[in-house]
Amino acid sequence: MSVIEKFRTMEYGPAPEDPKESLHWLDLHNRRFAHFIAGEWKAPSEGKYFETFDPSTGDKIAEVAQGSAADIDAAVKAARAALKGWQALTPHSRAKFLYALARQVQKHSRRLAVLETIDNGKPIRESRDIDIPLVARHFYYHAGWAQLLDQEFPGYQTCGVVGQIIPWNFPLLMLAWKIAPALATGNTVVLKPAEYTPLTALAFAEICNEVGLPKGVVNIVTGDGSTGEALAKHPGVDKIAFTGSTEVGRAIRRATASSHKKLSLELGGKSPFIIFEDADLDGAVEGLVDAIWFNQGQVCCAGSRLLMQESIAEKLTKKLQARMSTLRVGAPLDKAIDIGAIVARVQLERIDRLVKQGVAEGATCWQPDVVLPSRGLFYKPTLLSNVQPASIVAQQEIFGPVLAAMTFRTPKEAVELANNTVYGLAASVWSESVNVALHVAAQLKAGVVWVNSTNLFDAACGFGGYRESGFGREGGREGLREYLEPAWFRKAPPLRAKSAKRPDQAEVANPTIDRTVKLFIGGKQARPDSGYSLEIRGKNGKLLGESPLGNRKDVRNAVEAARKAESWSKATAHNRAQVLYYIAENLSQRSGEISSRLAAAVGKKQATQELKTSIERLFSYAAWTDKFDGAVHNPPFRNISIAMNEPLGTVGVICPAQTPLLGFFSLVLPLIAAGNSVVAVPSETYPLIAGDLYQVFETSDLPGVVVNIVTGRASELLKVLAEHDDLDAVWCYGDAEMCATAKALSVGNLKQVWTNEGREIDFFHKAQGEGPWYLEHAYQVKNIWVPYGE
Ligand code: NAI
Repeated sequence: MSVIEKFRTMEYGPAPEDPKESLHWLDLHNRRFAHFIAGEWKAPSEGKYFETFDPSTGDKIAEVAQGSAADIDAAVKAARAALKGWQALTPHSRAKFLYALARQVQKHSRRLAVLETIDNGKPIRESRDIDIPLVARHFYYHAGWAQLLDQEFPGYQTCGVVGQIIPWNFPLLMLAWKIAPALATGNTVVLKPAEYTPLTALAFAEICNEVGLPKGVVNIVTGDGSTGEALAKHPGVDKIAFTGSTEVGRAIRRATASSHKKLSLELGGKSPFIIFEDADLDGAVEGLVDAIWFNQGQVCCAGSRLLMQESIAEKLTKKLQARMSTLRVGAPLDKAIDIGAIVARVQLERIDRLVKQGVAEGATCWQPDVVLPSRGLFYKPTLLSNVQPASIVAQQEIFGPVLAAMTFRTPKEAVELANNTVYGLAASVWSESVNVALHVAAQLKAGVVWVNSTNLFDAACGFGGYRESGFGREGGREGLREYLEPAWFRKAPPLRAKSAKRPDQAEVANPTIDRTVKLFIGGKQARPDSGYSLEIRGKNGKLLGESPLGNRKDVRNAVEAARKAESWSKATAHNRAQVLYYIAENLSQRSGEISSRLAAAVGKKQATQELKTSIERLFSYAAWTDKFDGAVHNPPFRNISIAMNEPLGTVGVICPAQTPLLGFFSLVLPLIAAGNSVVAVPSETYPLIAGDLYQVFETSDLPGVVVNIVTGRASELLKVLAEHDDLDAVWCYGDAEMCATAKALSVGNLKQVWTNEGREIDFFHKAQGEGPWYLEHAYQVKNIWVPYGE
């Protein structure tokens, strides 16, 4: 018998991990856990507990406190009380605590891995070799950021008390992704673990005490969705970080809309796994095993949509089926199994329901002939072929070991299929041609793209999604920014009433001709659909001109035009910079006439200042355009990860009322410098500035579709922009009510919303009015992982 034959017929014996230590730890706690508040175990205020089960056996593991609103309140108060002391520590002291947490996690790594596997059902190989080492790596990495905070983020300030809500698929790892950056930046935390998997978070609570972390810096309240909801709504929380379903992400966006809470959402995905005909097919099949059968497919970035080039589909499917037949499903504590248990019955039923629906819609279901354990929650690795792109199994997140396969002919078709989803979390591209792989990677709408690899993570490389996969990043420098804010912005006063900045009578220059401006859509001056105009008057009551009253239809036309600005996002940074310089040149040439007209609305002094500062601002962004680069990371694998700054896409902008020219430029310039296109609503006080702006744009080589201008009532147009599903983001400068509206109405496609939080920004002041803070919001980071070596 040859060695190969021996391998084929070889039987595996069971190799069970001994859970004794972890069970002993559970027994030490009498298998009953209270909340961890202010460094102490606190019984739930309503005295209620719920049970947590081992999904591979159905056996009860322990009882855990059900958190009420009162428990959340106590935890938030504890975090608030601890904040001052924690912030008063030197960066080095905080770094030492993070370092100690990393060390302690490593010391208890086996106990944590076993506990995770018992509670979640994931194979011990994964919790031992992937989850827990990455947890330690996150604390080490962020110990470094804590140390460097002052040097690397001057002028920034901690958010304060952070509420963090995490899911059950990587319980301790998600805790680390959330807690490490929060503590490194000087925040204090209230964390709510998922109801199916609270145990490792409670073990971590104990570790916090073991390293002497000041009481109240980390608080853990267990419970279900209602506990999470109480945390998201608590007025004492300054920021919410959430990972979980898109549906709950939407609910949290709504619940936090009228507050100043910063929000980051890491939501679902339906990530494509694209295999070209020149790929190493055996490597790609192994990649698929990692992509969709890792953690039973309960991974937000699971490669759940297989896109195969038609020419290799048959061959690849056979190889894949052969490999699937060797996957071992069984007891998660057995070191020789590949697929463990599904976390809960409701998830198992959901997977089964979706697969049946997919089959009813025409998909072919194939499962290997593997025997599932007689008890516990298990599901066979599943391949669905002949899946139509519109089928439920190609569109919805199944969150189970189910791969939906489709074919494509050309790279263009692959990109179209890959992007045919509301999500945009991750993607995997397989080709031996680095040119093809990188060309495709650049076109994918996803926060992470793995070339010839999959499911690689590192604390130094940001992770997060586009579109309905959420916003904000975790990991890397960009992840830290989620927990910081410019110090001046937090202290900025509320926006003054619109009339406050109107000029005195004496200041008003008299324009000679009344002006009627138009909308500016797709590079053309357009009349408003409504057929109405608004009279615009100076403070002295004199009619300055008329501006069109834009409506829903005008905004729709403007978005449609702005969507055609692809050539702008693909233009070189040098080209974009040249256009911005040219706008500055033309603005400067016309500054006399523009300034005298603007003076009628804002006074001579302000008008002159607005012109001068706008020209400077154009120079600043022209300068930034080819300098605000991404980064290259060196994660601890044979990979580089290229962090690219990519434009958001098409952005709706509500411009400041008080500084009609400078306010417009301060918001629009960083966006177009970054390669976005915009639909801008200019100052409601003086929308006539639009006429001057489009005349300057028309003579400055700016492609007509890049900046579209719709004048009208800002609060009405804001609603249309926020609800528009084809916009990628909204920037809104307005009072607190407008800012809340922008956030609340954006839940449809979960577009990114950035507002002034109803505060006054002094656009004349360089530190407030321009720079990286704006550019960081105008870009999103895409990490492209590229392996090297043989
Ligand atoms: P979920 O989104 O309901 O749960 C995630 C966390 O949010 C848990 O801690 C939960 O208690 C909490 N939560 C629930 N309702 C809340 C509310 N109204 N306010 C604040 N917090 C709330 O996810 P679930 O129901 O466990 O899983 C359903 C589906 O969600 C999965 O099948 C999968 O498709 C997706 N999911 C995606 C995850 C990801 O990593 N992106 C993780 C978990 C689930």
